[in-house]
Amino acid sequence: GHHIMSERVGIILAGGSGSRLRPITNFTTKQFLPIYDKPLIFYSISTLINAGISEILIILNDQDLNKCSEALGDGEDWGVKFHYAVQKEPKGIAEAFLIGETFINNRSSCLILGDNIFHGSNVETKLSVASKNEIGAGIFVTKVRNPERFGILNYYKNGKPKSIVEKPKNPKSSSAVTGLYFYDKDVVEIAKKLKPSPRGELEITDINRRYLSENKLNIYNLSSSDLWLDAGTFDSLAEATDIVKTYKNKNNAAIGSPELAALKSGFISTTKYKKLIKAYGNVPYANWLEEKLDD
Ligand code: TTP
Repeated sequence: GHHIMSERVGIILAGGSGSRLRPITNFTTKQFLPIYDKPLIFYSISTLINAGISEILIILNDQDLNKCSEALGDGEDWGVKFHYAVQKEPKGIAEAFLIGETFINNRSSCLILGDNIFHGSNVETKLSVASKNEIGAGIFVTKVRNPERFGILNYYKNGKPKSIVEKPKNPKSSSAVTGLYFYDKDVVEIAKKLKPSPRGELEITDINRRYLSENKLNIYNLSSSDLWLDAGTFDSLAEATDIVKTYKNKNNAAIGSPELAALKSGFISTTKYKKLIKAYGNVPYANWLEEKLDD
């Protein structure tokens, strides 16, 4: 049998207010803040492109929408298509599937939080496995030092996942759910039935629990050498800049470059890539993109 698989779409949820980054975010949007050599939003875009996703909905708050859509445009330069939508208030991560219902249009999807940065030698492979898996959901899990702040997995003795608890007071493990999620088309209907949690949010953990209870939750464990950062606080922002700088200068690793991701994913040709370099002019970032062509 031959059947046409509908392509997985991507959603970047960047609708937060970035209040913890005031006064900086009184002057600029969180999405434009530099993570070493690139604006924050480049990193989530690159992750989706690395997962082979080219239809992308970017969800922003009211104030950020015009600034971001003007700066990013329609994505054509990177061989992708950007769509934009507003989240009026940060009412929960799961709201992305209500805002994105028409965009998703019965297709499978991948959601990434706008301030999450992923990198590692195996991450791209795991992304492509997760993206190609058409059944159920896939979450990316990693060990953290402060499990009280995250959605945390509990396991049975045999290592199978038992439950997920949001911000547990007494964490049963240190395995945290990161801000990168893959779902089949059912996620929209599941999101529609959610009730706000005691803290007043539509919880992504409730969606993941539902897939877990139906035995349809695939877990992708990041290894200790893989990188997961968020940029929500001054310290995590500074740390992210520091790590991206180190990876780039010491390991010659490329993190968060949409141009390079688009070239690798076959979204743009080498000719187009060279055009993008030329458009930047003779600047360090362009010279670095040029060097990458030889790798
Ligand atoms: P938060 O850590 O809540 O980040 P924030 O940007 O809202 O900042 P602050 O708490 O300092 O005001 O959320 C993490 C990411 O998820 C962030 O990139 C914003 C995004 N998000 C939304 O876009 N909408 C939401 O409803 C929620 C809960 C998060």
